[in-house]
Amino acid sequence: MAFGNSGLGLYHVLGVASCVALVYFSLGEMGIHPFSFSLSLPSVPGSSSSYAAPTASFVERRGARLFLDGHPFYVNGWNSYWLMDQAVEMGTRHRVSRMFRDAAEMGLTVCRTWAFNDGAYNALQLAPGHFDERVFKALDRVVAEAGRHGVRLILSLANNLEAFGGKTQYVRWAWEEGVGLSASNDSFFFDPAIRDYFKVYLKTLLTRKNHLTGVEYRNDPTILAWELMNEPRCTTDPSGDTLQRWIEEMAAYVKSIDHKHLLTVGSEGFYGPTSPKRRKTVNPGDWHNDYGMDFIRNFNVSDIDFGSIHIYPDKWLQDAKLDEKVKFVTQWITAHVEDAEKELGKPLLTTEFGVSHMAKGFDHSHRDLLYRAVFDTVYESAKRRGAGAGAFVWQLAVERMEEYLDDFAVVPSEKPLLHRLIKAQSCRLAKLAHGKGGDARRTLSACAGLS
Ligand SMILES: *[C@@H]1O[C@H](CO)[C@@H](O)[C@H](O)[C@H]1NC(C)=O
Ligand SMILES: *[C@@H]1O[C@H](CO)[C@@H](O)[C@H](O)[C@H]1NC(C)=O
Repeated sequence: MAFGNSGLGLYHVLGVASCVALVYFSLGEMGIHPFSFSLSLPSVPGSSSSYAAPTASFVERRGARLFLDGHPFYVNGWNSYWLMDQAVEMGTRHRVSRMFRDAAEMGLTVCRTWAFNDGAYNALQLAPGHFDERVFKALDRVVAEAGRHGVRLILSLANNLEAFGGKTQYVRWAWEEGVGLSASNDSFFFDPAIRDYFKVYLKTLLTRKNHLTGVEYRNDPTILAWELMNEPRCTTDPSGDTLQRWIEEMAAYVKSIDHKHLLTVGSEGFYGPTSPKRRKTVNPGDWHNDYGMDFIRNFNVSDIDFGSIHIYPDKWLQDAKLDEKVKFVTQWITAHVEDAEKELGKPLLTTEFGVSHMAKGFDHSHRDLLYRAVFDTVYESAKRRGAGAGAFVWQLAVERMEEYLDDFAVVPSEKPLLHRLIKAQSCRLAKLAHGKGGDARRTLSACAGLS
């Protein structure tokens, strides 16, 4: 997400929703979690001292589709960027398991989150190559908790933006150590010293042994995929060559250490110089033409396993009417799915989509409509065995996290209708995905009361 955590509270929404929320919680607290298929076998569910090594299979790619245990794998997913941060302190740790529990109850199966914090508060990387074991243990906990709740993770490895350090912090480190080539934030992509810093972090992370499960990250099936960077941009080289070289180099490096996991780039899907027609007809304007991104070229790199896009109609088409936004959402996904099939031969995940409650004329029904447009497009692709492998809401949280919420955030337990909409998508994707397996029976029985 490119808009930071602006801390726009949702107090007014909380007020309206609190009665409904109370009813919902009392159901939720009964401990009915029909979707938990549990990657691990905890001896005492809920206690923190009992994590077993995960026994699940890795999700794999075959052509333009994802598979798990021989069945097609479709994702209804979500973003909660804050999991590692909240897992550091005893006082906030409970939010992590609560989030996984709430999400698993809606049938959400994959969470995209940050596995980086470079030099910021509660930093994972304190200085180049120096890591805070306390924070690594928090990330271990996030991975172990995800596994326990039957949730897989997309872990993002760096930030284009300054939040949690980002490119800027790496460049600052290089300057402090007297090895930096340039003051430009984009030197992150080309400076040899900084590329080495990043590789040290990659190696440390990929070979990290989880202190709770005993499994190295590179061998852990709880992790669905690595993502090189959240929304990479390189405005100092609009040709795209600099970013492209970085993607090729880092993708090869990740695969040289970890060939088991899927890998993606993390960009928003803007078409670039190699797709002049798409650039003109599909991109939402031309303001990002000089960002150095190039969807087809970037994701055609052989070490990259699937394409990713983001969608923010309220930010990208600020003056558009609702029906224009709905149309854009459908077209944006459809065009990329088509290219994923025909040009790339790889799956496509919509790794962020969000609707702002600050948008002009916002009404809650708008969010439902736009979410529906995303869900329907994903479902239609899945139904015809296309490359559209799923979508991730930006962003979900649990109660009393106002300081972490932006204007796209939703606390699902406070929004029963949205909760139902998300769950319905999980259910119909699950029906398509594992018609016969044991997971399917569990999921489908949980879905029986719905629709
Ligand atoms: C690098 O990025 C930061 C944060 O966005 C910004 O404040 C700074 O001015 C940038 N530096 C350069 C040299 O552009
Ligand atoms: C993708 O890469 C392959 C080589 O790996 C190349 O033959 C093909 O033309 C590329 N496709 C596009 C659309 O760039």
